Amino acid sequence: MKKHSIAIFTALAVAAISGQAQAKNDAPEWVSKAVFYQIYPSSFKDSNGDGVGDIQGVIDKLDYIKSIGVNTLWFNPMFSSEFKDGGYDITDFYSIDKRFGTNADFKRLVEEAHKRGLRVCLDLVAGHTSDQNAWFLESKKGPDQRYSDYYIWPDRIPDDVKGKEKDQISGVIGEDSFVKTDSGRSPFYIKNYYDSQPALNYGYANPNPQHAWEQPIDAPGPMAVRREIENIIAFWMDKGADGFRVDMASSVVKNDPGKLASIKVWQDISSWYKAKYPEGVLISEWSNPKESSAAGFNIDFMMHTGKYNFSSLFFNKVGGEFEPQVSYFAKQGKGQIKEWYDLYTEQYNATKGKSYISLPTGNHDIQRLNAGDRNTLDQLKVTMTFFLTMPGTPFIYYGDEIGMKFQTGLWNKEGSQGRATKNRAGSRTPMQWDDSKNAGFSTADYWNLYLPVDKDANRPTVAKEDKDPASLLNYTRQLLTLRKDSPALSADGDWKLVSDVNQPYPMVYLRSSGDDRYLVVLNPSEQPRDVSVAALKVKTAKLVAGDNIQGSYKPGDQSDAIHAGAISAQVYKLD
Ligand code: NOJ
Repeated sequence: MKKHSIAIFTALAVAAISGQAQAKNDAPEWVSKAVFYQIYPSSFKDSNGDGVGDIQGVIDKLDYIKSIGVNTLWFNPMFSSEFKDGGYDITDFYSIDKRFGTNADFKRLVEEAHKRGLRVCLDLVAGHTSDQNAWFLESKKGPDQRYSDYYIWPDRIPDDVKGKEKDQISGVIGEDSFVKTDSGRSPFYIKNYYDSQPALNYGYANPNPQHAWEQPIDAPGPMAVRREIENIIAFWMDKGADGFRVDMASSVVKNDPGKLASIKVWQDISSWYKAKYPEGVLISEWSNPKESSAAGFNIDFMMHTGKYNFSSLFFNKVGGEFEPQVSYFAKQGKGQIKEWYDLYTEQYNATKGKSYISLPTGNHDIQRLNAGDRNTLDQLKVTMTFFLTMPGTPFIYYGDEIGMKFQTGLWNKEGSQGRATKNRAGSRTPMQWDDSKNAGFSTADYWNLYLPVDKDANRPTVAKEDKDPASLLNYTRQLLTLRKDSPALSADGDWKLVSDVNQPYPMVYLRSSGDDRYLVVLNPSEQPRDVSVAALKVKTAKLVAGDNIQGSYKPGDQSDAIHAGAISAQVYKLD
């Protein structure tokens, strides 16, 4: 089959699957209004002075979190772990790691969050475990144990894989996926990320009969893994969790380039989930909303990974390296939006009414927005305006609401030197609360801190920004209030680029829902810019957020004239 006919076949097959399982967005009602706040738990707030954040610390800060205007928390993994990959190497999926507290503390967190109208989502690391997980230790012993087929044990590296690297877009495994072991059972196991993270066995899309280790997805081992994942989900949902973000969700079935088998596995799990927990949300780290939507996920990210990424807007490179000269949201004004626009609109049109796309402000794997020379309040306000006025589900990474700075020159902390993004520690430094010791994060001595606190004397803190009406924190609050009260600006409101995609400064888009209409104007460049757009038939245009000195909007009969000052954002309510 030629390349394009394979693509058409895949698209049709995805559509067929999606048609069967999910004709409409079946997310619970609350998800349409959800605004997430992501917490990297080791860095948020330390309540016991050991230098590492914990659950009690988060409980102490729930009122602050609520005050931002978010309503749902997502925590990076808090389960028992070896911490060779920041908690993504789990040794026991059924217990909270002692550095964060206990299972009882988690229940208290949920109760306290729910009292304040905040929901709580956890991280489901479905694709792999730690190599110290009891399941793996038992599986290693041989083929006749309860957990033997939870993992994949090749007896050799096949010739056609030799010399090939794992394909980062399709997920097809390469020689680098085979880890040498002296287990006695087999010379290799298959890993998912680091060597210390053996892949759980969901089977192969098309098992090769010559490769005994490649099992079909419905073989007893892969089926037992699926049921185990459901047990884990049920365990935490029954303790009050409101849903999960699923780590590397698209990676579960091996050698599945069109993802049809992975979609099938998740349809099985997600339909069980929806029947048992109709109020629960499922979020995927899949980075292909069309596919994840067919698999039954309610929200998917477009960020730095996979084909469908927003790298050209912020990094201009998959992997998240910062290149200010070329990214769109850089003051040099040399970027473009076409690449992102094409990827985004393809996904937006395909998933509208089915599931939500999230463009997160950042996360624990990518550089923060405040990086390099993208570091002024104006610049950060322009990016925040973008994130909080786009359709889909906003995710704010802790500290981005105060403009915390990406830290350079940090060492490898618990696996932070990732495979694609080399310095993930720079985005994982302690939250900056106030001017007390360690910015109020912890009373521990410097060398006991999880990572060092930003040393800049003028570093942003919650305490400072709370008092300053012009701060990024208060601007974020203002945008979230606006969004909450407007059907047009909500997750479901329509979105349309009204400026020319090939003349990206300023970028102008319309959000609408019936008569409710907003126009958003973004100019990240340090040159003032003028643009005219086809008349939007406006009687009045009221500036409701953004810069009120530098910009103007003049409606006309044929076209509307927009002026955007240097590094500025405007949100107009149109009547
Ligand atoms: C994606 C997570 O976001 C990242 O932090 C982790 O290292 C890998 N998955 C492996 O679990």
